[in-house]
Formats: sequence, structure tokens, C-alpha cells
Amino acid sequence: MNFVDLPVPLEPTYDRSPRTIKDLCKEHIKAITLFTICIVIIIILLAVSMCLFLTPAKKNVAVLPMKSITLFLDYYKKLYITDYDRIVMFSPDSIEKASIIIGKDSIRLPILDKPRSIFVDVDENLYVLEVHFDFKEEFYIYRVWYWSKNSTNGKKLLEGNGDCYSLYIDKYMNIYIPENGNHRVVIWYAQQQYQNFSIVAGNGTSGSELNQLNEPYGIYLDENNDKFDLYIGDVKNRRIQKWSLNAAEGITVVSNVNYPMQIASDCHDNFIVWNGDALKLYNSMLTTGLDGIYLLNNFYSGAMGYDNKNGAVYICDMTNNKIIKFSIEGEILLHNTKEAPTA
Ligand SMILES: *[C@@H]1O[C@H](CO)[C@@H](O)[C@H](O)[C@H]1NC(C)=O
Ligand SMILES: *[C@@H]1O[C@H](CO)[C@@H](O)[C@H](O)[C@H]1NC(C)=O
Ligand SMILES: *[C@@H]1O[C@H](CO)[C@@H](O)[C@H](O)[C@H]1NC(C)=O
Repeated sequence: MNFVDLPVPLEPTYDRSPRTIKDLCKEHIKAITLFTICIVIIIILLAVSMCLFLTPAKKNVAVLPMKSITLFLDYYKKLYITDYDRIVMFSPDSIEKASIIIGKDSIRLPILDKPRSIFVDVDENLYVLEVHFDFKEEFYIYRVWYWSKNSTNGKKLLEGNGDCYSLYIDKYMNIYIPENGNHRVVIWYAQQQYQNFSIVAGNGTSGSELNQLNEPYGIYLDENNDKFDLYIGDVKNRRIQKWSLNAAEGITVVSNVNYPMQIASDCHDNFIVWNGDALKLYNSMLTTGLDGIYLLNNFYSGAMGYDNKNGAVYICDMTNNKIIKFSIEGEILLHNTKEAPTA
């Protein structure tokens, strides 16, 4: 029998020093530690990337002061907001920066007691309505304070009786106040240093006749071409009344309006009406049977500001403590890029 030489097994070229149980354990622990570190790193990386992904892009949203109940948008689109006993102003070019213009932490005096309404005229003079309830006598007193532009000291312009929520200043600086509790709108004359007032709408008895009002709240004055047409949100009568200068009675321009707390108008006879939780559009040409077009719904707010040049509405969202601007912005549909032929 021939025996074939079996090949001699080669010596392993790598070091295979014998490993003890201890060594194996050590390696095991090392592997586990490495594995754990890797997992932790992966989790951290994932978390960081998720955070980056989920965090919304930083917008320049201003942090509002406390709770705002009213706002005013002036001619220059500066936004004035009440904050308990202060008034804060936001400028359109630096909306993230607020300036406290009246009240605590401001150089302007006096400190007001929860202002109800603000009005700023085209010369940036400021008017503030403040209302007190006299518990002893059980009636309301309202006051209008005035700060001329840049002045630090306010002065009291007038004091009247009745509950009210808004004011409007015409171009002669006369002050219109819808006294909702007295069911009338009064005008205080600048020429008489606001000593005297007259009734411009309503006869003082609540009712639904054309010479009457029932809880007027919001007003809007159309003083173009010296018309002086006063539009009134006649809340309990659910209508918008128009009273022309020296008229003995009003005309109903829109009926079936739910709670017209604040009203504004655009150049097409549309009325933007804020009723406390919805914003609606009414047209005076379509007076009956229509309940308005919803622009916004379920939005509890204290006030509305309307920019009738751009059709933007500013809402003071009291539930969420936010001021929100809704705007209809145009887009370019057609654009002729060719230059006009030269003659
Ligand atoms: C108000 O202050 C501004 C800037 O400080 C100034 O330019 C302006 O002339 C002042 N206006 C009035 C009416 O004093
Ligand atoms: C206020 O009205 C009364 C009566 O109309 C008038 O006598 C008085 O002079 C007026 N006051 C001012 C400051 O104009
Ligand atoms: C207001 O007008 C109504 C209806 O014409 C009338 O009944 C009421 O007495 C008037 N009120 C006053 C104070 O004149």
C-alpha cells in the first residue's frame, strides 16, 4: 500500500495566542460599550436632525405684552395696542420691536386705567378713551385723553356720562362717541374746547324707529368731500345705519347684521363687520336676505383694524393673545417685458 503523504498543515501566520475566559469577557464588554456609544450617538444625531427639521423657520413675530383688548391701525400702518394700563406701538418697519408709548415704563403720563379705545389722527396725535364705573352713583363716566405728537404729557379733553367702547376723530378734531348705554352718538366740538356736545344720531331712547338706535357700538365716518356720513353699527337692531350731517333720522344701509360691534368700509360700499367672533363682508347694494359673506369664523376678538388701501384686516385674537393680519395680496398675472417701441 502506498501511503500518500498528507500535506503538513501550515502554521497559522497570525498570532493565535490562547484566549482565556477573562479575555473573552473583556472583549465582550468592549463590544457592548462600543455598541452602546454608537447607539447613543445615533440617537443624539437623530434628535438633533429631528429638532432642526421640526422647528419652524424663525419668523419675526413680536412678543405681545399682556392681554390686548383693542387695537388701532393708523394712517402710517403703525399698530397701537392696549395692554391693561399701557399702550404699545408697533411700527411696520420694525414689527418685532414694540415701544411702550403710554403708561407704566413710558415717559408719557398719566397712567391710564384699561383704555377702551385708541384713535390716532393723520398728524399722529393720539386720543384714548377710558371708562370708569362709579359704584356709588351707579353710572359710567368716560374720559378722552389726548397726546399731541411727541408730547410726553397727556391732557384730559373731555368727560361724559355713559358707557362706550369706541371713538372717532374727524379732520376738524371733533370727537364722535357712540354711547351704547344712552342709545345715541354724540359729537364733542374741538372749537368749543370739548366743553359741549350735541347728539348726531339716535334720540336717546332705545328703539328700532329710524330716528332711534339700540346699543350703538362701532362707528365709521365717511368724511370724503365733506360728506360727513356717519355709519353706525346698531347692535341690538342688527343693522348698519347711515346718518348724514344734521339728519333727523338714519337710513338703514344693511339689515340682518349679526352684532355689528366694529365696522369699516372700503371704496366699493362693502362693509367689513366684526361681531366678536366672526368677520363678515356685507354690501349695501345687497341689503336684504343676505347674511353677509364669512371672511373669518370662530375667532374671539376684542378689536379689528382695517387698512382700506390694501384690504388687510388686523384682528386682535384675545384667546391666544395674538395680533393677526389677514391680507388679500395681489399677484402679477401678466407682464409685458418688451420695451415700448420708440417713436
Ligand atoms: C417729533 O419728533 C420727530 C423725531 O424726533 C421730529 O422729526 C418731528 O419734527 C417731531 N414732530 C413734532 C410735531 O414735534
Ligand atoms: C355750550 O353750549 C351752551 C348752550 O348752547 C352755550 O351757552 C355755551 O357758551 C357753550 N359753551 C362753550 C364753551 O362753547
Ligand atoms: C324717540 O323717538 C321715539 C319714536 O319716534 C319716541 O317714541 C320717543 O319718545 C323719542 N324719545 C325722545 C327722548 O324724544
